[in-house]
Amino acid sequence: MSKKIHLISFEIHSPINHTVLSWAAPGDNRLDAMADLKKWQDLARTLERGKFDGLFFADTPGVFDRYRDSHEDAVKYGVCWPSHDPVVLLSALAASTTHLGLAATMSTTSYKPWSIVRQLSTVDYLSGGRVGWNIVTGHLRGEHRAIGYREVMEHDRRYDAADEFMEVCYQLWDSIGEGAILADRESGVYADPSKVKFVNYHGEFFDCETVGPVLPSAQGRPVLFQAGTSGRGLKFGIEHGDVVFSIQPNLPGMKRYMGQLQAAAAEIGKPEPGVVFGVQPILGGTEEEAQKRLDELIERMPLEACLARLSGTMGVDFSGIDLDKPMQEQQTNASQGLMKAFTSVLGDRPFTLREVAIKWGLSVGMPQLVGTPEQVADQLEHIWRETGCHGYNMTPNVMPSSIEEFVDEVVPILQKRGIYRTEYEGRTFRENLELS
Ligand SMILES: Cc1cc2nc3c(=O)[nH]c(=O)nc-3n(C[C@H](O)[C@H](O)[C@H](O)COP(=O)(O)O)c2cc1C
Repeated sequence: MSKKIHLISFEIHSPINHTVLSWAAPGDNRLDAMADLKKWQDLARTLERGKFDGLFFADTPGVFDRYRDSHEDAVKYGVCWPSHDPVVLLSALAASTTHLGLAATMSTTSYKPWSIVRQLSTVDYLSGGRVGWNIVTGHLRGEHRAIGYREVMEHDRRYDAADEFMEVCYQLWDSIGEGAILADRESGVYADPSKVKFVNYHGEFFDCETVGPVLPSAQGRPVLFQAGTSGRGLKFGIEHGDVVFSIQPNLPGMKRYMGQLQAAAAEIGKPEPGVVFGVQPILGGTEEEAQKRLDELIERMPLEACLARLSGTMGVDFSGIDLDKPMQEQQTNASQGLMKAFTSVLGDRPFTLREVAIKWGLSVGMPQLVGTPEQVADQLEHIWRETGCHGYNMTPNVMPSSIEEFVDEVVPILQKRGIYRTEYEGRTFRENLELS
């Protein structure tokens, strides 16, 4: 268990964060932020004021195209469409902050190892070691089709390819050895070639012949995040992730996940990475007010927009399936871990498809923590103590007020309880996350 709770803000560079139609909520400034860098910079500074570890961008490139076998519902309601590139935001956010970690999702399907190492490590180097990478294999059909593949690569094979992808990245990150850079103005020698290892990689999926493209940052290389939850995904997460994060519908699901992670780490013989759970705080001055806010979010969401999101993530077209029957586990090449988490019974009865669709529309299945600031702080502390997790990836719903309220009203309570930092301890993202 971490010494303190770690908090990351979970964002998307699109008209919505994780809540369907949040762009239409009164007071939401998401649509302005799409066109105004300063709004993102203000948000990052607010998170830094709240001593967050990081700002983390999910990314689902391409378009959700599974529901009714069409992209139209996603486009009509702005469900993560348009989907702007999160990586280009990172350097602007690095320039407007000093401590905040900045992470982006990049998929091993859409990029090559060299291009990811070059892009992310450039910002990591420039920001003094504050960048993270959420390694995803790209589970969306829409992403595959956008870059020219007809269908999604088979689930476990995607992870085999991603293992190889990572091997190339490690070689590129390790290529520039200690003492390699001389930058000697007198002799005119910039670097000692004997200390810069040439990468000569030829594998089943990737080839790479070059030297490391970017100087090692203050934290060596970006912090690695991973969120695979299936058997194969969990193994990949343990092998490569400094931090893994998981969406579970409730506390029993979180506890079960921790058990699975521990068992898988023991089997592989590797230490367990830190775990952050996805949650969605919904605050109010009273419990009733918070509940009313949640009800309003639910009322605003068209069900077909929720189903478009759910069908995309699960890789299954849910049109024509009875909404009020328990959601059945189906074979998928997309997110097997999420499919299992939401089709297994963790309470007194299974979830219906309608219930899961609403959970997806609200927060992609992340549980809501509803109540007064004190009640939300209680829930955060309770889950942290019960599961031994590292902290949370928290998705706001109304921008920027959800974050401002959390920083102003919940953070001081956590600080007073001594379970949340009052100052940044380290220089780098890795240090602040207690990873070194
Ligand atoms: C918390 C969480 C966040 C995720 N974020 C993204 C994302 O931003 N982009 C993406 O393409 N996939 C994302 N995924 C999908 C996973 O990276 C993974 O591809 C998917 O869950 C399938 O893996 P699995 O079958 O091993 O669980 C996320 C999954 C989880 C649980």
